[in-house]
Amino acid sequence: MGARAGVGALGLVLLAILVFLAVSSWSRQPAAAKPSIQPINFPHSLHVQTYKIDCQYCHSDARRSEYAGLPSVARCMGCHKIAGAALPEVKKLAEYYARGEPIPWVRVNKLPEFTYFPHKAHLRANVKCQTCHGPVETMTTFGAVTGPRLTNDLLNLVGLRPAPPPLTMGWCIDCHRRQNATADTHAPLDCVTCHH
Ligand code: HEC
Ligand code: HEC
Ligand code: HEC
Ligand code: HEC
Ligand code: HEC
Repeated sequence: MGARAGVGALGLVLLAILVFLAVSSWSRQPAAAKPSIQPINFPHSLHVQTYKIDCQYCHSDARRSEYAGLPSVARCMGCHKIAGAALPEVKKLAEYYARGEPIPWVRVNKLPEFTYFPHKAHLRANVKCQTCHGPVETMTTFGAVTGPRLTNDLLNLVGLRPAPPPLTMGWCIDCHRRQNATADTHAPLDCVTCHH
């Protein structure tokens, strides 16, 4: 008896884990924004919606380089020498400025080193920031759930085809295929353009 019952029990445990992972993944979709811990609580919502500051005023490298870039402390201080100077989070900003230190923002979107993603090409093709990064203008704290997920891999394994999570290879390829089929673009599908 012993060995067979053991295997049966193991099977049940594995099945339970699979069901749990599948259910927790479905209940999470669409991926909820997960707040990240930043040195200063910077509200995109206030700056973009209330004060109508353009994304590219702060992320000004996006149209001309691989990176979107983050604004310098000096750029923030252009407004904050006066605006909100008494607010606690703005005071933190002024302290970095006085010490001449950059703000150690925590990076959220990060591809592995062996991939090549140029912002410039996507802006030239008129892909909106929000298509890839979500409704940033509504976020009080920027957050995103990105990269491969075990639950997606398992669902793919059993033949279901969940939408690939942002920043995975499937996500890039899906959009490139769709764009090339519907718009007159030549988004790369060959390995070496994205991996070199
Ligand atoms: C074009 C002007 C402008 C720029 C540039 C700007 N801000 Fe602001 N920011 C404002 C205004 C206006 C407020 C509202 C101040 C108030 O409520 O008195 C504000 C509010 C804030 C607040 C306070 C939010 C709160 O309610 O506690 C923080 C923190 C902040 N900004 C950080 C930054 C950082 C960091 C940068 C640079 C990445 C930056 N700001 C760039 C105009 C600007
Ligand atoms: C006033 C300056 C300012 C404006 C305007 C602004 N951002 Fe940001 N953005 C920041 C700062 C500072 C950070 C880093 C802190 C954070 O993640 O909240 C950031 C972070 C981000 C990130 C995450 C970077 C990472 O670590 O992966 C994205 C994506 C982003 N912004 C997109 C946008 C989009 C889209 C818009 C326009 C709808 C926009 N931003 C407008 C200042 C700005
Ligand atoms: C086609 C999808 C796509 C679009 C469109 C896009 N991004 Fe990104 N963004 C990414 C990816 C992927 C990364 C991670 C890149 C890496 O790690 O090399 C990223 C990273 C970032 C970062 C952090 C790293 C950096 O490059 O500085 C910021 C900030 C950012 N994006 C802002 C923006 C803004 C602002 C816009 C619109 C002007 C925009 N993005 C448009 C996909 C996109
Ligand atoms: C449009 C861009 C793009 C193209 C084309 C592309 N890849 Fe990728 N690939 C990525 C990105 C982004 C990642 C990192 C995210 C991930 O692991 O899903 C990646 C990850 C990988 C990985 C690592 C997977 C892992 O689990 O760590 C391998 C291996 C790979 N690619 C091989 C290939 C091969 C082979 C081709 C050609 C048939 C190819 N890629 C075409 C964007 C691309
Ligand atoms: C929402 C759609 C979308 C997503 C998501 C997307 N791309 Fe693209 N990509 C495009 C379009 C559109 C073009 C431009 C094609 C053209 O100019 O003909 C492009 C072009 C490119 C190019 C060619 C650059 C050049 O100089 O010609 C590279 C490399 C690239 N993408 C990599 C990636 C990688 C890596 C990812 C995933 C991390 C990704 N893309 C995600 C739509 C997308």
